[in-house]
Amino acid sequence: MDLRSRFGFHATPFTREIGVEHHFRLPWLDETLDALVGCIERRMSAALIAPPGSGKTALLRRLTHTLPEARYQVTYVKVTSLSKRDMCREICRACGAKPAGSFPALVDRLQERFTQTSGTEGRRPVVVLDEAHDLRPDVLAMLRILTNFEWDSQLVVSLLLVGQMPLRRMLASEEQEAVARRLAHIATLRLLSREETIRYVEHRCAIAGAATVPFDDAAVDAIYELGRGNLRATDRLALEALLLCDRQGHGVVGPIHVTTARRNLWP
Ligand SMILES: Nc1ncnc2c1ncn2[C@@H]1O[C@H](COP(=O)(O)OP(=O)(O)OP(=O)(O)O)[C@@H](O)[C@H]1O
Ligand SMILES: [Mg+2]
Repeated sequence: MDLRSRFGFHATPFTREIGVEHHFRLPWLDETLDALVGCIERRMSAALIAPPGSGKTALLRRLTHTLPEARYQVTYVKVTSLSKRDMCREICRACGAKPAGSFPALVDRLQERFTQTSGTEGRRPVVVLDEAHDLRPDVLAMLRILTNFEWDSQLVVSLLLVGQMPLRRMLASEEQEAVARRLAHIATLRLLSREETIRYVEHRCAIAGAATVPFDDAAVDAIYELGRGNLRATDRLALEALLLCDRQGHGVVGPIHVTTARRNLWP
């Protein structure tokens, strides 16, 4: 790929998937993570609600990485608009229970599985539902049942609901009161500031192997003005601007590449 030779990257920069060890860290992101981990350590459930592209799934990956495997069994399910039975089957599949039978049978099987994880294996089951704003209301309400049983008088499963802003509205409705009551903490993520965006762009260039940042100051400023500190928008603008700059044979990205990138991405 030309980006590598022209800008000195070792790998494609601003890609979607990066290793947890390469994640950009900020004190408030760490605090958000610590608060969620704290809930799980106290055998409670929580939610993480923030706009698209703000780093929810990335933070979840760090959370999974943070919880020691010897003590926690994390089951990650990406939600689609499934029925109650299909959701239970999905969770069964993800946590190693047999995904067959009627809805009540599946709930029994899940409870058995979680009790076994807690008891025999000595690990705490944590169920993470990503994209939880896509949950059907009856399925969201059903989650109460999964966290409803106790073993040795302590709650067995921690639930972590992760989703975009409509999840907040869903949880505020009367129908979801019982689920909402079980959430010890609702975390959120904010957009990056201008300063943080500058550091983020530098970080993403550095982890892709560039010795110097191939964006001039005005270009990074334009990325912030157009991307408004949203991580996904920042990534997409930066990569598209780099590709344009490369095609034009320039060695440094300027603001014109960023504004053209914006037009190309979101005409
Ligand atoms: N801490 C981080 N360090 C480096 N890159 C990150 C970090 N957080 C997010 N990103 C980048 O931003 C992009 C968007 O983040 P992510 O997919 O986590 O957002 P999201 O909030 O889950 O969005 P959606 O609501 O659409 O699922 C990721 O593809 C990743 O490249
Ligand atoms: Mg996500």
